[in-house]
Amino acid sequence: MDSIGIGLLGYGTVGSGVGKLLKKNAEDITLATGKQVTLKRVLEKDPGFTHPDLEPGLVTTRIEDILEDPEIQVVVELIGGTGAALDFQLRALRAGKNVVTANKQLLAQHGAELFAAAEESGVHLRFEASAVGAVPVIKVLRESLVAAEVKTVFGIVNGTTNYMLSEMAETGAGYDDVLAEAQRLGYAEADPTEDVGGKDAAAKMAILSSIAFHSRTGLDDVPYEGITKVSSTDIAHGVRLGLTAKLLGVAKLIDGRMNVRVYPAFLPKSHPLAGVAGAYNAVFLTSDAFDEIMLFGPGAGSVPTASAVIGDVISVVNTVKGSFVQNCLCYKDVPFFPDDDMVSRFYLRLRVNDQPGVLAKVSALFGDHGVSIHSMVQEGGGQEAELVLLLHPVREAQFFAALDQISALPDVHGDPAVIRVEGEERRQHD
Ligand SMILES: NC(=O)c1ccc[n+]([C@@H]2O[C@H](COP(=O)([O-])OP(=O)(O)OC[C@H]3O[C@@H](n4cnc5c(N)ncnc54)[C@H](OP(=O)(O)O)[C@@H]3O)[C@@H](O)[C@H]2O)c1
Repeated sequence: MDSIGIGLLGYGTVGSGVGKLLKKNAEDITLATGKQVTLKRVLEKDPGFTHPDLEPGLVTTRIEDILEDPEIQVVVELIGGTGAALDFQLRALRAGKNVVTANKQLLAQHGAELFAAAEESGVHLRFEASAVGAVPVIKVLRESLVAAEVKTVFGIVNGTTNYMLSEMAETGAGYDDVLAEAQRLGYAEADPTEDVGGKDAAAKMAILSSIAFHSRTGLDDVPYEGITKVSSTDIAHGVRLGLTAKLLGVAKLIDGRMNVRVYPAFLPKSHPLAGVAGAYNAVFLTSDAFDEIMLFGPGAGSVPTASAVIGDVISVVNTVKGSFVQNCLCYKDVPFFPDDDMVSRFYLRLRVNDQPGVLAKVSALFGDHGVSIHSMVQEGGGQEAELVLLLHPVREAQFFAALDQISALPDVHGDPAVIRVEGEERRQHD
């Protein structure tokens, strides 16, 4: 029986999950591939690195021990980051090794270079675990749905922020308290910036958009906004309006152009994504061919993520000495649709002087910019009141031009709270 060696870079959270699954499921992997798939080497920084699941003698600190080993045909990069990981992946691809990775930031920032190196060497670069962890979105998009023109990919692609928003809605707790709790439970890193600031979700959306629309999308093409400005007050207003707050990654194909962004948004309570609570992830796909498909599951975690990595390893092993499956499938160059021209619905909360005439001024400025109000509620009294507005769909440039003027009114205090509302069109055909 042919034997395929694996070189594993990094034996941390996901790497140790891969080590565990390779050992535990060795028989199934052999049955699925007809080959013996063995962990031959593990790269770590510390030469004295040990792990209870790891056989002694496998650890090396020299990447050359992996790159120069002819029996290693698949390199699994799980060290993370965009420094050493980029160097190691490029060298592995150029040395003719197939590469499997979960590294979303590296792919979103250096995808073009990496895929070019893979094409040049005629090897695979597989990355299922890089977006939405254990949920097989990439395989579904690039294989099952390759002939169905996907129009939108939007979803909850970051578990940390979904946990936090779910807790804020359920308990009424504030952002800081919920973040501290998420860190205590291990749902948020000690430095949560990439998650709460939206960069993690943006990298995943760059990857998903590249695959869905067959056109290279990098991190720089994805404007992102996290949840740091989402307050428990807005979440509570949302609940009263039948809306659930989520951090959404949204990729849309509009008239042959694409728009890819990450922002906090309200969804109608009845939308399938609204019910995705806690640290779970879900991706919602639409197309004229299949209407709607939702994929749901754990977006992170040692063994769940490792199972997606192993799935990629099996795909690669199955095509070694056999047919070749294209890597990125980015064979189009779809132009981007400008954010300003996107048509969105907005929720807006303003703190205003509780005086006659303020409402009229706000309505007039919206009217001047062609923004039409769907509903408006005024709360509070005394010195200050709160205006909570839901707007009809509007070109974003018009909304923000009106908002600039409204925010500058002496009657309006502080920064307005602005949250997009997504998924309303679905309510019509429910
Ligand atoms: N954790 C998840 O649930 C999850 C989910 C989806 C995707 N991912 C992605 O998977 C990748 C790995 O994440 P992880 O959570 O497993 O990270 P991790 O727990 O920090 O593990 C990384 C391992 O690689 C080692 N390492 C780092 N730099 C190295 C270098 N230059 N040479 C040799 N070894 C090195 C680290 O050693 P030290 O500890 O000594 O630095 C550590 O053991 C990342 O790209 C991440 O974005 C993770």
